[in-house]
Amino acid sequence: MSDYYSPVAEFYDLVARAHGEGELKLRERLRALDPAGAPILDIGAGTGRTTLAVAETVPDVEILAVEPAPAMRAVLMHMVARDPDLARRVTVLAEPVEDLTLPERLGAVIAYGVLGHLDLDARQKLWRILLPRLSRGAPIFVELLPIEKPMRLPTLPLANATIGRRSYIATLDGEPGEGDIIRLTSTWVVSGGPSSGQTIRNTSIWHTFGLDDLAQETGLRTERLSQQAGVLYA
Ligand SMILES: C[S@@+](CC[C@H](N)C(=O)[O-])C[C@H]1O[C@@H](n2cnc3c(N)ncnc32)[C@H](O)[C@@H]1O
Repeated sequence: MSDYYSPVAEFYDLVARAHGEGELKLRERLRALDPAGAPILDIGAGTGRTTLAVAETVPDVEILAVEPAPAMRAVLMHMVARDPDLARRVTVLAEPVEDLTLPERLGAVIAYGVLGHLDLDARQKLWRILLPRLSRGAPIFVELLPIEKPMRLPTLPLANATIGRRSYIATLDGEPGEGDIIRLTSTWVVSGGPSSGQTIRNTSIWHTFGLDDLAQETGLRTERLSQQAGVLYA
């Protein structure tokens, strides 16, 4: 598994994802969820945004937060370790999800921003692990890029933030790759304060597909929650 995230992990929370439509819909659905005592799995927990969404909306549920990228996991661990309630409820796991032996039952699965990093073989391995663990009606929440075919993306603004004396301006570009791949490059320009300017470029691979493709792969029903988010029901 490639680690696309550690080189730019320090910037991850400068991209305005928190409280976006996908997260608000996730929180709304989680508030109505009864996981029947089973843990909730957060695949690709990143720096903790989705883990926190679960913890704040599903009282007392146990959370398995899977995050293989060391720098992302460090931020996640920092969030969990400083909060006694999270430290009691959240288990942080460092392996890629498809290499884990998971508990027999799962109350729900969150896969926000991660499934496109898995090719079809890895996703099929994942479905073989997950589907027998989900009770009837248990949801898999997904957030995908709104790109269902490889294509060239025009340069898009990604972030514009000021932290102390430094400003962080980022853009995103996309180039079609082989098969279903789009290569995404983020470029971060950091400047200001008593330090020289920096430009950091980071490229990751995303396999393009949509909710309907996931429905076919899994045999589950789907419902769209926002432009990028949806839910699959076992
Ligand atoms: C875009 S981030 C999403 C973070 C968080 N879920 C959110 O929405 O803010 C995707 C994360 O998935 C992780 N990831 C990539 N491949 C993975 C795999 N096979 N198993 C588990 N996590 C993976 C990456 O390391 C990265 O931190």
